[in-house]
Amino acid sequence: MSEAVRAALESSVEGLAESAPKADTGFLWDFWYPAMRSEEIHGKDLAKAMLLEVPLVIGRTSEGKAFAMRDACPHRGIPLSYGHFDGNSVQCSYHGWEFDACSGKCTLIPSLTSHDRLKIERISAGHYPCEERDGYVWVYMNAPGTRLPEKLPAVPELEKFGEKYKMTRLECELPSHIDHGIIGLMDPAHGPFVHQSWFWRSKASIHEKAKQFEPIPYGFRMSPHKPSANSAPYKLLAKMTGETVTTTIDFVLPNIRTETDRSGKLWFSSRATVTPVKRDLCRIDFVAAWNLPVPVSIFRIFAKLFLRQDQETMIQQAEGLKHNPKLMLIDDADRPAKWYFALKQGLLESRRSGLPMVHPMDGPVTLRWRS
Ligand code: FES
Ligand SMILES: [Fe+2]
Repeated sequence: MSEAVRAALESSVEGLAESAPKADTGFLWDFWYPAMRSEEIHGKDLAKAMLLEVPLVIGRTSEGKAFAMRDACPHRGIPLSYGHFDGNSVQCSYHGWEFDACSGKCTLIPSLTSHDRLKIERISAGHYPCEERDGYVWVYMNAPGTRLPEKLPAVPELEKFGEKYKMTRLECELPSHIDHGIIGLMDPAHGPFVHQSWFWRSKASIHEKAKQFEPIPYGFRMSPHKPSANSAPYKLLAKMTGETVTTTIDFVLPNIRTETDRSGKLWFSSRATVTPVKRDLCRIDFVAAWNLPVPVSIFRIFAKLFLRQDQETMIQQAEGLKHNPKLMLIDDADRPAKWYFALKQGLLESRRSGLPMVHPMDGPVTLRWRS
């Protein structure tokens, strides 16, 4: 047996084992997730992506509409991304079945003769709602085996406070389960250790903070506040306008952290999403828009450094997590992480029971920590 065949057999045996009922992956279905950047789709090429362990084939029709299908032909499972796309239909590379890209419906089976009575319009490739916003291709991942709701929620969009602004996007992969990715994103206590640098803050600048949080639908908000006096960019912003800076930070399920900083006419708005690719891999997509007089190139240097610091830490953490250590969440610095787990639980419970979601917070609360 050739090496290539052996490898294929071995991987298909693994594939079989994987398609057996698996342990709960902890993914939240029925939400929009960013699958890739808009600029990664070139002309009529088919692009591959993965969300929540679902392989996807993504493209854009001749009319400019992005689409997402499960990257597996319903006939014999070969990835449709090996096929051909003419701007409207995806043709499978194996037996040439054709599927309408926007609906996933089968439109042609070349092997059929006039004697066949097969209703091909009943055959469909797995298909997901797909939209582009802020330079990302978003895919609505409805739970396997469920129907789409009549009305889909709005696709997340970055808030902007004017017509003229600069914008940039960055991403980085984390070898972690989505929950670790998210609690890393909202963790207030790692700043002075992971992100210490001369331009931001030093370990010695650590001091006690009290921040007010309030419940919002599906999440919580760090109420508008004057940002940390020990961080240089905020000092700069205040100096530029001579007015106070207000910062609002929101987290909402399934994975979105937004931050807006405003001072006089100047503003900065950012969003970080942590998206589950597989159970042991997630990706941070960071997008920011601003009208501050800061060039994109300069901003990217600092943003990249920040992301890399987080990424390196999470690579090291993954090394420790391989051995299933016992973990703990403490008050108050880890309270946002506790809220995240409680929100997730509350959402799943309300979906199960059909009752309104129970929010873990019953009103504003002040958290105190040193960072
Ligand atoms: S496997 Fe796709 S047409 Fe047969
Ligand atoms: Fe960080």
